[in-house]
Amino acid sequence: MASLLLKNGRVVTADSDSVCNVLIEGETIVALGRNLAADGAEVIDCTGKIIVPGGIDPHVHLDMPFMGTFSSDTHETGTRAALHGGTTTVIDFVLQKQGHSLREALTEWQGRATGTAVGDYGFHMAVTDFNPSTKEEIQDMVAEGITSFKTFMAYKGALMIDDAQMVGLMQEVRKHGALVTAHATNGDMIDTLIAQHRAQGQLTPLYHYLSQPEVTEAEASGRFADIANYTGVNSYIVHLTCEGALNQVRRATERNQRVFVETCIQYLVLDASLYEDEANGAKYVMSPPLREKKDQATLWAGINQGLVQVVGTDHCPFMLAQKLMGKDDFSKIPNGHPAIEHRMELLFSEGVSKGRISLQKFVEVTSTNAAKIFGMFPRKGTISIGADADLVVFDPAKTHTISAATHHMNVDYSAYEGWELTGKIDTVLLRGQVAVDAGETKVPKGYGQFIKRGKTAF
Ligand code: URP
Ligand code: ZN
Ligand code: ZN
Repeated sequence: MASLLLKNGRVVTADSDSVCNVLIEGETIVALGRNLAADGAEVIDCTGKIIVPGGIDPHVHLDMPFMGTFSSDTHETGTRAALHGGTTTVIDFVLQKQGHSLREALTEWQGRATGTAVGDYGFHMAVTDFNPSTKEEIQDMVAEGITSFKTFMAYKGALMIDDAQMVGLMQEVRKHGALVTAHATNGDMIDTLIAQHRAQGQLTPLYHYLSQPEVTEAEASGRFADIANYTGVNSYIVHLTCEGALNQVRRATERNQRVFVETCIQYLVLDASLYEDEANGAKYVMSPPLREKKDQATLWAGINQGLVQVVGTDHCPFMLAQKLMGKDDFSKIPNGHPAIEHRMELLFSEGVSKGRISLQKFVEVTSTNAAKIFGMFPRKGTISIGADADLVVFDPAKTHTISAATHHMNVDYSAYEGWELTGKIDTVLLRGQVAVDAGETKVPKGYGQFIKRGKTAF
């Protein structure tokens, strides 16, 4: 079996930080230490470099039918781009079609991902129609290793479920020890505000933002937490963006409830002033929208307070031509933005290099916590004997500039064009294979494996 030695790197996990060597045999880490005998092993010199666990992005939408089109990254291009950015595992969303079964949706998504993904991947199941037959399928999904069930409290008529369905789903998911996640915004209120703006001819991207004020997210986050508390299910709010919503989670902790929280990189580093640029605002149309500077401050603090456990991306890219579907009406702009490739480097540069978060917190929120919450720990999300050798070798001092001209995502713009970052990924290993080195992909289409997940262990 081929062995590989990463030598003299600063090896950082969520709970350790030391300069040592990492020995890999096949797909697995077999030893960690200062004086490892590794005769015959291929050596990668990591002196001066930081080694962290391969990133886990638990919120991506690859090749997803949405708002009359498909997100532009496939499982191949999206997971390849993820690898270039140090993310070795993603969790993608399977969407049940209303009136159809969960199994049909799973089969469709397996058809797209199997044999094409370059990086490892799991699936969440989005339940958009909870009824007696869907209820029967929950246990089958858990047996397939799909242990998280996504709900949308918005996008009425396409993805949204009502509170009655939410209660039923949570009760059933709880029976199987799994997790319910939510896009927690008040869909009815948002639809009303959208209709009001359209009726008044207010059609620019700014009105996307004004149709989803903070209260729409705070209200739904509180409601989701309340129903989860009543049913006793494990709960997780995806892409939380603002102070009002985080305060609802804080309130839940006061009754000793635990609600896991994910924010996404864009909400930490971009803000709503971008919607004032009418020509470019569509690039930033996503739901929930970008927020205010005070919300960014809340989210950074929330990470350090342990209230926000995960930083994902909600990667849902659309080409500029797709964004133009809404050039005369913001409500027709496909929602989403590209970030799968830059999550880790952006968070390192804006977070660690600028002193907002520690290196260990960086590891927690980019991999370890997601691995624990989504049932992949300790196989993924850490650097320990027996774990998958998913590793990122980071040069903390190297600077570089983001550009659509050089990124690997299948999308013709970057939301971070021209951003100069400190800290660059040199080498990425996925299950013991060098997957990316010096900007080149080293593993083929189909190398990515489906990761069958277990229960939350956090
Ligand atoms: O704008 C977004 N977030 N697009 C993807 C779908 C979702 O709501 O997560
Ligand atoms: Zn969402
Ligand atoms: Zn999403």
